[in-house]
Amino acid sequence: QLLETETEQVTLDGFDHYMLKEIYEQPVAIRNAMRGRLDDQNATAIFGGLNLTPQQLRSVDRIILTGCGTSWHSALVGEYLLEEFARIPVEVEYASELRYRNPPIDPGTLVFGITQSGETADTLAALVETKRKGHRTLAINNVVGSSIAQAADGGVYLHAGPEIGVASTKAYTSQCCTLAMLALYFGRLRHLSYEAGQTYIKNLRLLPAAVEQSLSCDVQVRQIAEKYQSASTFLYLGRQYNFPTALEGALKLKEISYIHAEGYPAAEMKHGPIALVDTDTPSVFIVPRGTTYEKVIANMEEVKARGGPIIAVTCQANPAIDDLADDVIRVPAIPEYLQPIVSVVPLQLLAYHVALLRGCDVDKPRNLAKSVTVE
Ligand code: G6P
Repeated sequence: QLLETETEQVTLDGFDHYMLKEIYEQPVAIRNAMRGRLDDQNATAIFGGLNLTPQQLRSVDRIILTGCGTSWHSALVGEYLLEEFARIPVEVEYASELRYRNPPIDPGTLVFGITQSGETADTLAALVETKRKGHRTLAINNVVGSSIAQAADGGVYLHAGPEIGVASTKAYTSQCCTLAMLALYFGRLRHLSYEAGQTYIKNLRLLPAAVEQSLSCDVQVRQIAEKYQSASTFLYLGRQYNFPTALEGALKLKEISYIHAEGYPAAEMKHGPIALVDTDTPSVFIVPRGTTYEKVIANMEEVKARGGPIIAVTCQANPAIDDLADDVIRVPAIPEYLQPIVSVVPLQLLAYHVALLRGCDVDKPRNLAKSVTVE
């Protein structure tokens, strides 16, 4: 009901589809997620609605992030961020699994439900069940006043604005950005230095412009989509912070173009996915820079040696990548831990254009719902 009302109020503003509009809204959505939440003076983030004292938050020694679909992918990015910067052990659980599991959860554990709609039945049930057991539960949620926002002890709103396209885009990047701010916040309650906090804030502020700039690949991505629109399988490969980007890129393509796609950590390809590589199966490598840069390039070589077409999403010019890849999409370079928020943009556009070329209903793909309120 709520979503229908929102759909009526939100207009396309000259875009052909809500999904495309929402992809283009990402620089603003990210700015809104950060608005009023960066505290330069204390080199940390500010969250007004956590409803926990600094002492309670300081005593958190384990975090569970739970959600479904795209929100589960943002949880994976959150795991990397929170473990690196807050040094808190994090577990990511599918909400549909968590709700029926009975994992040992100790008193210092904080449970975050991550959700765009705030109405996903499994996420709601997982939070209600962990709360029933006396654990602290928080929501990272877009829709104000949603069921999950009400069920949790507190939380953070994304402020991304209504998301109408069934395939989540701006909510995903806003979730990643919010998790990045939470990692700063928890880090600064612990060992993260004032200087490191300042640098972190400076880097967060680079995000809206970097995402804006990454949108300029749109025309090129459309051409790449034309080339590969008839493929029956795509592989998406990335490592570390961009492993979740690979999963999310594959999910986007699957959801709206109905092409089979698999996302994998690039080094895992030798344990299975490499068997799928042939001249008709494109591999999308997310290889911006960072600690495993050379390793991912070595994985590209393995695909190339088997005749597989390669699309590379990368930052600066690199002759090795230019030689190996059939198409190179450049995105702005930003510190590694924020790169997924920038690198996912061409993948969203690729899914959009391929779906459009195949005559699919981009905003309302078959068999899927924006919000899954049943089990
Ligand atoms: C559905 C949507 C996905 C979304 C998932 C979780 O499957 O089609 O786009 O990621 O639900 O939704 P939530 O609202 O909880 O983020």
